[in-house]
Amino acid sequence: MRKKIIIGNWKMYKTMKEAEEFLNEFNKQTSGKTFNCDYGVAASFTNLGILKGKRKDNFLIAAQNCHDQEQGAFTGEIATGMLEELDVSYVLIGHSERREYFNETNENINRKLKWIFGNSKILPILCCGETLAQYQNQETNKVIEEQINSALKDLSAENISKLVIAYEPIWAIGTGKSSSSQVAQAVCSQIRNIITNLYSKEIADKVRIQYGGSVKPDNIKTFLSQPDIDGALVGSASLKVADFINLLN
Ligand code: PGA
Repeated sequence: MRKKIIIGNWKMYKTMKEAEEFLNEFNKQTSGKTFNCDYGVAASFTNLGILKGKRKDNFLIAAQNCHDQEQGAFTGEIATGMLEELDVSYVLIGHSERREYFNETNENINRKLKWIFGNSKILPILCCGETLAQYQNQETNKVIEEQINSALKDLSAENISKLVIAYEPIWAIGTGKSSSSQVAQAVCSQIRNIITNLYSKEIADKVRIQYGGSVKPDNIKTFLSQPDIDGALVGSASLKVADFINLLN
């Protein structure tokens, strides 16, 4: 049985003060409570130290990006070693906003995955998904196949078994229009088949696949009840403590 994993994606939201208030309130409201899933948030770099200082128990710290080298003259970038010092255990790789606004390519994403698996204890959450035009032209399967195949190029089976993949149709991100759970299930099942073909069924059965795109407390159950959906990557609904707790419940 794969354990569900629910990660909030705070994107470029929350000052340190706001992040601290969130954690204080979250800790208060969840005191003595346990959740039946892995959970945490992917926060901006300035908030990672706050999370490290304030988080309780199993709250996972994730980053939203990292570079593919140990260190160097890469202004504005961050290294996995720096993230490890902040107890970061997951990092989002290839989020559609990174691909769209910061020109990240499938090749960049493959280099990052290789670096992370080869050189750090952090685990990647590989994001993939099609645009609205691709969806309307029925190119979803082709796009996903391309994104997964090139992201995983030259990665070992052992690495892949620890990978988390987030399927996020771009037209569903921040739009309030989520995919139907059946369509999301079909794509997540396709992703698992791609991994079966590249590696083996045994490896594919270990990979956790999240759905993302307008996941809210009132629709999360329909997604998580699908056989190939093992969690959610949640943007706006992770920003408020009450919503986030409802998602985890
Ligand atoms: P959303 O964002 O939940 O606000 O649609 C999801 C994401 O970008 O990961």
